[in-house]
Amino acid sequence: MQPVTFDAASRTWLLRTPATSYVLRLDAGDVPVHLHWGPVLTLEQAAALPSGTRQSSSFDGTGALDELVTEAGARFHTPSLQIVFPGGVRGVDWRFKAHESDGGHLVLRFGDAHEPLELELHYRVHDDSDVIERWTRLVCRVPVTLLRCDSAAWSVPMRDGYRLSHVTGDWSAEHGLHRTELAAGETTLTSRRGLTSHAANPWVMLDAGDATERHGEVWSGALAWSGSWRITVTRDAAGRAGWTGGFGHEGLSWRLEPGEEWVTPVFAGLYSAHGHGGASRTWHDYVSRHVLPEPGELRPVVYNAWEAVGFDVGEANQKELAALAAQVGAELFVMDDAWFGGRTSDRAGLGDWWPNPDRFPGGLAPLIDEVHRHGMRFGLWVEPEMVNPDSDLYRAHPDWVLHQPGRPRTELRHQLVLDLSRPEVAYWAQEWLNRLVSEHEIDFLKWDCNRAFTEVADDRAWIGHVRAVYAILDRLRADHPHLRVEACAGGGGRTDLGILARTDQVWTSDNTDAFDRIAIQHGFSQLYPARVMAAWVTDSPNPLTRRRTPLAFRFHVAMAGALGIGGDLLRWSPEELDQAAALVAVHKDIRPVVQLGVQHRLPYGMQYAHEDRVVVLAWRGPVRHGTPEPRLRLEGLDPLGRYTDEDSGVLHHGAVLMSAGLPLDLPADDYASALVRLRREA
Ligand code: GLA
Repeated sequence: MQPVTFDAASRTWLLRTPATSYVLRLDAGDVPVHLHWGPVLTLEQAAALPSGTRQSSSFDGTGALDELVTEAGARFHTPSLQIVFPGGVRGVDWRFKAHESDGGHLVLRFGDAHEPLELELHYRVHDDSDVIERWTRLVCRVPVTLLRCDSAAWSVPMRDGYRLSHVTGDWSAEHGLHRTELAAGETTLTSRRGLTSHAANPWVMLDAGDATERHGEVWSGALAWSGSWRITVTRDAAGRAGWTGGFGHEGLSWRLEPGEEWVTPVFAGLYSAHGHGGASRTWHDYVSRHVLPEPGELRPVVYNAWEAVGFDVGEANQKELAALAAQVGAELFVMDDAWFGGRTSDRAGLGDWWPNPDRFPGGLAPLIDEVHRHGMRFGLWVEPEMVNPDSDLYRAHPDWVLHQPGRPRTELRHQLVLDLSRPEVAYWAQEWLNRLVSEHEIDFLKWDCNRAFTEVADDRAWIGHVRAVYAILDRLRADHPHLRVEACAGGGGRTDLGILARTDQVWTSDNTDAFDRIAIQHGFSQLYPARVMAAWVTDSPNPLTRRRTPLAFRFHVAMAGALGIGGDLLRWSPEELDQAAALVAVHKDIRPVVQLGVQHRLPYGMQYAHEDRVVVLAWRGPVRHGTPEPRLRLEGLDPLGRYTDEDSGVLHHGAVLMSAGLPLDLPADDYASALVRLRREA
């Protein structure tokens, strides 16, 4: 299969992935227009695609679907690129220069008929994934202002209707999935907070309203960016739909110096013919193959005492908890907030990254040694982008924070944001992080970011800050290849393909209530794989929601990701500690299936398949009397295969598991759950 082919006569490019094709063409005015995104086509078929333009009146646009919508000519879709040249001239009068392809990477180079602009559209396809990556690069030899510079515009084929899937949320309520008819007009999904945000996540899925979890065509896109972003989904009067998206929110502008290069993040897109479940599985596979830094690794079982002790961290309580964490089978002990500077509450100390001398009189070494003696690795919480005004750092460098001269500095959680787009601030962060990891045996950092950005004086900082975070993480990992990192922003406020390229997992949510987590994890799973989804078992009643749930239920829900324990083990009974140890052992047994396997969402659970094993996690919330239990019909098995239940020895047939379902007979209790391990007979 040739990943990129070109038909010179019609000036048509065909991109091929294993199961899909993407086609674009230059129109008579050199504008790259979109023709096809869907099932596989040959080059001959692609060249024969009608251009499909139609202008119904002098008030209408050209009818073309542009690969990047600029403000030139009769083109009225949401602009992807708004560029202002000297004198106020706007829009791109496209002039095609050249195309190059190297393996699956296609670059189309354009100029402008009047201005010294170089504009490139990049496409990259892989031979092992149907995900297509796109981004934009531009350079101009005169100063320009960018009012918007999206990574790509994506168009979907004409259908009778469209349904939009996306997530919204809040702190402790991330990834709430919505599936609604796509409104006529424009729908904007965005973050204006400097972070990916809890409120929305930068991905989108469209279907014709007929896709199900198992069947139907779904078009989707995900932006690899961890700061402010915007995706505008359009459904126009002619019945067409698509979206344009990129970094930055509305109202920002970036002035580029002559010769300065501007490169957008990747906006990846996927066409799947196998329903929302099929789309999710392809995204999971893509994240594993092409995004994560260490895709083959299993995530260690974490113990973290944040919910147990809060800000009351000390050498003695951490050592006590470490002993119990080791007893239940934790492999990585993470010390959370309040180990440093004068940090005894959220009011002080952020920025002063040395061990608190009252709490750790001998430094961190005695605790780290003890953790190692228990056979666990050691990790630390850090929040490098933030400062409390009550800190030595802020007293020394009050100008290092995002602020607007003469305006109040809005404090959120009593903290301000360090402007990492300034080289001296980024240097400071890189230097102390490097020193911290070099001087101690630290295997893991939980990199937190606990507030939204305000008072950004320079629009470039919205981009520069995120790039600096990426550069610091990349450098830190390169200098310390053993180091693993968890991305966190008050729970799941920084979950995206950009941060996942330099972290190993994300803290999914500060809400650890297992029942609430089912919905959060459901939304998370639409794009992101189980192996990056950190999930803790904590206390009952849950400290946030006061809900009481059985220990097994809490474990079964958390085992659907990267299991951790975050409860106050000092208050767990010996029986609970024994049960926890047994469940952690089960988790370690099924971990390769969950974290490396193929995931199918079931009506009230998850199925994972890896090599010859299948694991089903089933969970149910409060039960209303008389509600029938939905059948757990398994998916993707070999119909002729025989599958043995590893615990009961019962034999099941693949065809029966997929048609009649897996009999579970959950007790009628609220919060019942089950775990089934099946092995396929050779
Ligand atoms: C954030 C994180 C929590 C914890 C606290 C510490 O809220 O999401 O897990 O680390 O910060 O202050």
